[in-house]
Amino acid sequence: MKIESLEELFLEELKDLYHAEKQLVKALPKMAKAATSEELRTAFTDHLEQTKNHVLRLEQVFETVDEKAKAKVCKGMQGLIEEGQETIAEDALAQLADLGLIAAAQKVEHYEISGYGTMRTFAQILGNQEAVRLLSETLKEEEAADKLLSGISQSLLKESLAMSAQAET
Ligand SMILES: [Fe+2]
Ligand SMILES: [Fe+2]
Repeated sequence: MKIESLEELFLEELKDLYHAEKQLVKALPKMAKAATSEELRTAFTDHLEQTKNHVLRLEQVFETVDEKAKAKVCKGMQGLIEEGQETIAEDALAQLADLGLIAAAQKVEHYEISGYGTMRTFAQILGNQEAVRLLSETLKEEEAADKLLSGISQSLLKESLAMSAQAET
């Protein structure tokens, strides 16, 4: 299909993001299961609940343009999730494994943040206020999730530093 208008491009990107979020609903429980730190596990389970909502919100965005929700394979997210699974499969000390998981999860969040940012700009230009509102809500949650992960990684880093300092004495 030849894309000839911003409306059509918006719809194509929407299908992509929809598939990305749906994949995350499946991937996040595995990330949660793999996490050792209680705090990290909770962060993943909480974000899973938010992600289910992101899927629903995108369905509402489809409604604003009178389209049925449809997914188009998002290869970018597929790749990021695959990398995350490789991280899970690696043999690493608990704290380092958690830091690896956070690294993978933050790549995902940044990918989403960029996707939602673009979509929101498109919606603004198209004058679709309802879509702007819905996309902004999710964007806020992705940014908060990213910040939370940074915080958890900071405390894990401090712990591993303390551990290696202890090992040296
Ligand atoms: Fe999301
Ligand atoms: Fe997310």
